[in-house]
Amino acid sequence: GAEPLVLGIETSCDETGVGIVRGRTLLANAVASSMDEHARFGGVVPEVAARAHVEAIGPTIERAVAEAGISLDELDAIAVTSGPGLAGALMVGVAAAKSLALALGKPLYAVNHLVGHVGADLLQGDGLRPVGGGEIGALELPTVALLVSGGHTSLLLVRDLVGEVELLGETIDDAAGEAFDKVARLLGLPYPGGPHIDRVAAEGDPNAIRFPRGLTKPADLERHRYDFSFSGLKTSVARWVERTRDAGDEVPVADVAASFREAVADVLTAKAIAACRDLGVPRLLLGGGVAANARVRALAAERAEAAGVILRVPPLSLCTDNGAMIASLGAQLVAAGHAPSTLDFGADSTLPV
Ligand code: KG4
Ligand code: ZN
Repeated sequence: GAEPLVLGIETSCDETGVGIVRGRTLLANAVASSMDEHARFGGVVPEVAARAHVEAIGPTIERAVAEAGISLDELDAIAVTSGPGLAGALMVGVAAAKSLALALGKPLYAVNHLVGHVGADLLQGDGLRPVGGGEIGALELPTVALLVSGGHTSLLLVRDLVGEVELLGETIDDAAGEAFDKVARLLGLPYPGGPHIDRVAAEGDPNAIRFPRGLTKPADLERHRYDFSFSGLKTSVARWVERTRDAGDEVPVADVAASFREAVADVLTAKAIAACRDLGVPRLLLGGGVAANARVRALAAERAEAAGVILRVPPLSLCTDNGAMIASLGAQLVAAGHAPSTLDFGADSTLPV
């Protein structure tokens, strides 16, 4: 039959995303972000994010529908992120999706945000270019997926997008993007800090300062082979900067940024490639805002090549949080004949994969 036309809603963090796909074809990807409102707090404030979703959800749905040139009656299904994420933020998307499904009499699919990130890699459409070349919409399974943003740092083994996804490891404290944002703040760079650190780091020496690599000691690896920790790194950078200032010296911002970025890129890529090797899975997919990081991408590409692993990074507009990835996963569920969710599900901030 025809490929399912699905609208996806994503509100797990600070992006209100509404996407529309037909099977693997991207028709619309409307995103409104409350990032600016969080800037003065140096991080996402859950209450502020939830209120912003309430205001943005209606207009963003309208924008996506106009962009796709469809009418809502034509939809085959609606998909929504039910977790993990910020509880209040998730609830806005879940309530909107349920209302829409009820009003239109369409089936509703509750999906996992992290698996949605993997679903983004299926999409093809005008102007979509994967980062670093390669073909779009060519997701092959099984694959290891490294999902790194301001809200999560997770390593997944994906055997089947709509059934067999295994969490290999995740951060035990801060998300990698959060570490970028906090380190940027202490270096006096604006929020969100990731892109600024990336820019400044390009002028610095990545080997100037040896910052710690979390959970990489042999004893840690035994229990936390695929887990991450960035809070020790952040503290170490803070202490180093403080000591330098106390000594009356100028902080070499570019060197600190480059050395910090190197430490993050090193652990992320080492653990992801180790998973590919251990599990005999020669594919690695990157997703999340931190996949935009130049050093993370370069080191991932270098190590993937050395290990005979095929690296894929979806276009950046699909790496950051968006509704299209949720719609894409929804379309897979419809196509695989999965039963829709009953309307009694709620937002689950710690939803497992
Ligand atoms: O996926 P995303 O847009 O939203 C969520 O966190 O949900 O990711 C945003 C995060 C922020 O922490 C931001 O600082 C980080 O991704 N980020 C980067 C870069 N671009 C964005 N981190 C490092 N290098 C970058 N170039
Ligand atoms: Zn995300």
